[in-house]
Amino acid sequence: MRTVVIGGTSGIGLEVVRARAARGDDVTLTGRDAERAASVAETVDGSVSGLALDLNDTHGLADALAGVEKVDRLVVAAIERDQNSVADYDVDRATRLAVLKLVGYTEVVHALLPRMDEESSVVLFGGRAKDRPYPGSVTVSTVNGGIVGLINALALEMAPIRVNALHPGIVGDSPFWSGKPAGVLDGYVSRTPIRRLATMQDIVEAVDFLLENRGVNATNLNVDGGWLVT
Ligand SMILES: NC(=O)c1ccc[n+]([C@@H]2O[C@H](COP(=O)([O-])OP(=O)(O)OC[C@H]3O[C@@H](n4cnc5c(N)ncnc54)[C@H](OP(=O)(O)O)[C@@H]3O)[C@@H](O)[C@H]2O)c1
Repeated sequence: MRTVVIGGTSGIGLEVVRARAARGDDVTLTGRDAERAASVAETVDGSVSGLALDLNDTHGLADALAGVEKVDRLVVAAIERDQNSVADYDVDRATRLAVLKLVGYTEVVHALLPRMDEESSVVLFGGRAKDRPYPGSVTVSTVNGGIVGLINALALEMAPIRVNALHPGIVGDSPFWSGKPAGVLDGYVSRTPIRRLATMQDIVEAVDFLLENRGVNATNLNVDGGWLVT
């Protein structure tokens, strides 16, 4: 199985890389810097190589991915975080994230489509901010909502290739959150029905489910411990 993980140098993407390599996949991971991507790839047991691409360099993505020969499984997880509120709206930052997540993600799929076959599958990362916003999530909520429409359109146009999206809540042990001061997440934990936040392992297992289950298509899977019932 040949698997490509866009945004595989850290966080959830890297955990997906590790899990797929442990299954025996040939994995290509990407980050923005070639040396960093290669050195992260070397830290993972198995057949893993690194590749550089910048999702904001949308016109360069096809060239950057030219060396990828075949794609059985594609996971697109990359993110550059944006704190943006409507009262203090930074157009440049908002544009950057919108292009990265919506145009960049789509261009990656477009560039790799000729190297997929009927049994290939794709998972794009959104996030629960699409329906549980927080102060400063204006752009994040917008682009994660956009992923819902995107996977519906891709599943239609790319059929029979399956295309699904994963929308995590706050992933407590991901590097972005685990580095925050103690107590920052307490309020979220207490409002989560399972009394804990989703973990990277929970997310990796959900990615595998979406990638491998042959009946699941055009699905937006929330992995958040049941946030919205509280
Ligand atoms: N962590 C959470 O709690 C959480 C919650 C909801 C949704 N999500 C979603 O889950 C996904 C993974 O999140 P994470 O927290 O694991 O991310 P992360 O640790 O911040 O990793 C981000 C990845 O994206 C790459 N990247 C950054 N800017 C890029 C660009 N312009 N072009 C290409 N690649 C770029 C980084 O590579 P380099 O730095 O090496 O370039 C890195 O591999 C994201 O889509 C995020 O929206 C996460």
